Amino acid sequence: MELDDELCLCFHVTKRKVVNFLRIEKPKRAGELSHCFGVGTGCGWCRPFLQRLFDQSQVCSSTDPLPDAGAYAEQRSRYIADGHGTPPPSTS
Ligand code: FES
Repeated sequence: MELDDELCLCFHVTKRKVVNFLRIEKPKRAGELSHCFGVGTGCGWCRPFLQRLFDQSQVCSSTDPLPDAGAYAEQRSRYIADGHGTPPPSTS
């Protein structure tokens, strides 16, 4: 995933915005990332990826790259189709 790819597809928030939020605001818990344009508060698909970015910002514990944007959106579609989350009504 590139910095300008959308990480939270519900609220159209890029990975760059989340990375900058982590760098500038230094949240204590991954849940505080919701203060970054509401990421993770829609269908929930991006929460594990937000957690990974949060963990990486703390100690660089994970070196697994995030999937590319196309695979990411495809996996999220399956996640929603499988009934794991519902996007907010104003987004797709
Ligand atoms: S993709 Fe982030 S909450 Fe749905």
